[in-house]
Order: sequence, then structure tokens, then C-alpha cells
Amino acid sequence: MASTMTATRKRNAAGSTRPARSKGRGLRVPAAGEGGFDQTWYPVCWSSEVPAGEVIGRPFLDGRVAVFRGANGTATVLSPYCRHMGADLSVASAVVGDALRCPFHHWQYDQSGRCSHIPIGGKIPADARLFRFPTRERWGVVWAFNGERALFELPDFPVADDRLLFRLHGPLKTRLEFPLQIANSVDFQHLIVLHGLEVDAYPEIHFEKFRMHYHDFKFRDPRRSGNATFNIDLSQIVGTNILMFGGNMGHGTLFSAFAGTPVTAEGQTYSYLISAVLKGGEDPAARQMQEQLLAGWEAWSLALIIEDDKPIMDTISFRADNPLPADKHVVNYLKYLLKYPRAHPSAAYIRA
Ligand code: FES
Ligand SMILES: [Fe+2]
Repeated sequence: MASTMTATRKRNAAGSTRPARSKGRGLRVPAAGEGGFDQTWYPVCWSSEVPAGEVIGRPFLDGRVAVFRGANGTATVLSPYCRHMGADLSVASAVVGDALRCPFHHWQYDQSGRCSHIPIGGKIPADARLFRFPTRERWGVVWAFNGERALFELPDFPVADDRLLFRLHGPLKTRLEFPLQIANSVDFQHLIVLHGLEVDAYPEIHFEKFRMHYHDFKFRDPRRSGNATFNIDLSQIVGTNILMFGGNMGHGTLFSAFAGTPVTAEGQTYSYLISAVLKGGEDPAARQMQEQLLAGWEAWSLALIIEDDKPIMDTISFRADNPLPADKHVVNYLKYLLKYPRAHPSAAYIRA
């Protein structure tokens, strides 16, 4: 007995029974803003927040943008600081026809961001141009691309939008960068352990330059949905911050898009959840059933996001520190994020 204790003590004193601690905590994706921001589509606001003739301001990347809608119905996302003396075009400004008018000396900017009118007259300076973000509107959301031009288009659901009924929720506030929040779509360990899902068939994961996707993922959710089988026909992350998935989800053909902003100055991402159900008929009874199905689908998604994931996403210091073979898809996704193009061409125009 005594000789065993002596031998153990000797080993401990030499440090030979304990593996050396690594110098850091493993693979980390730089925070948004380090080396620029991912060149992808970001949700800026709900379409309903910008009626025709209105302008609003929103945080965007590490600055602000002005979003206005002209009389022609087109929404435009612009840098907010007037190229005359810097007044904020999202505050006390006016929309005049299809132009945005500065509150200070009433210079007007058209939907390309160019100054189109100076009331006092004189030559319009060639450089009197706001940064105009490529802007799209889809599923009730105004989107802006971080770049001079879009490197790819917004994705489509597998069926045409006019065959879908939509339901919108958000924005939700969460502390973790959004691309890391949606890493959990390929974190099958957490789907099983945290969410309690039972997996019937795992998918193969495919990576492209601006997209990660997988097909045919089958699971059940005994905790929340009995024995219904969920079959995700397609799940994809487009760019780094739009997660889209859906298929025959237990009770009907259902889809979701979940998209978020970078962490804003207040330390939160804003995420937008768009849920959709395949329309099954226009008569009131059929419509009511679709609405119920859609409400249930949204409630299921929110239960996973808010009840299960959010406490972790609000406090995690995300690293792939000691990944297991089962974590290979998460690690591959983090590598995709590390290679993803970052830039910040609007920096000089959107920061105060
Ligand atoms: S600061 Fe905008 S017109 Fe002068
Ligand atoms: Fe999750």
C-alpha cells in the first residue's frame, strides 16, 4: 500500500499522469467586424415598418442605415449621413416622391443614393452620393447585402412563394453572433441531447462557396410532437446568416427561414423567423386549418429556439475546443465561416 502511494505521488510531482493543458481553447471564428463583415444578405427590418413615403433608421453592421420607401413602392437601404454636412437622413427627413430629403438644407437623394436636387441651386457635387446597399424585399422582410453589389441572390423556398402562407415573428434578441447560432443545424449531438430528438436518418452535408446544405434528414420529437416523423427535404445555410429548412414536417408541408443581423452596439443580434405552410385550399375551413398548422409550426420552432437554445446562445464563449468525430459537421461549418469573404465597403459612410 505504502509503495503504491509513493509511486502515485512521484508521478504527480513529475506531472506525468496529467496531459499538458493546451495554450488556448481551440478553433474560434472571429467576431463580425474583425476583418470586415460577411458578404451576405442581412435582414434590416420588416417591410411593414416602412410604408410608402416613410423613412426609418436601423443599426447595421457597425453603423446605421436609413431605409425609405418611395411613392413607387420601392424600398431602399442607404448610408444615413448626408453628404453635405452629415445630418442623419433617418431623423426628421422627408420622402418627396421617390427621393429622400435631408432635414437640414433639403438636399434630395434618389433611389440610387445620388444627390438629385439642391434647393438653393448650383452644381451638384459629383461625390454627393450615399452608399446604396443592394436591397431586396421578400417574405415581409427588407434585406440588404454587405457589398457594392450582391454576390448571390436570396434563396428560394422549394415551392413558389404564392403557394405558401406566411407567418412572421421577431426580431428576437440573442447575444451570440448569428452564424454561430445556426451552427446548431448541423450539431446533431445537441439535437439529440438538448432538444430530445430521435434521429431516424442522418443526412450528408455539402458545402459550396456561398452555401451549406443537406437533404433527407428524418427525426421524431417525442418530447413535443409525439411519434410524428419529421422529414427535412432540404436544410441550407445561405451565405452565413440565413437558415432555411422544411419538408414534410409531421403534420404538413412546412418551411422556415431564420435570419439574423450581426451583433449590434447594444450587444445583441436581431433575428427574424419566417414560417410558411403549403396552401391547401382557399375555403374558410381549409384556410383555418392551414393557419393552425402554421401557428403550431412556429410555436414548435420557437420552443426549440427560446426554451432550449437561447440560455446557451446568450452565454456561450463559442469554440470547437475538443471536438469529437461526431462534431465533424460543426467543425467543417466553422471552417466554411473562416473562409467566407468579409469586407466593409460602407465603413466610411455608415459610421457616425
Ligand atoms: S446636411 Fe444635408 S443638406 Fe445639408
Ligand atoms: Fe438548437
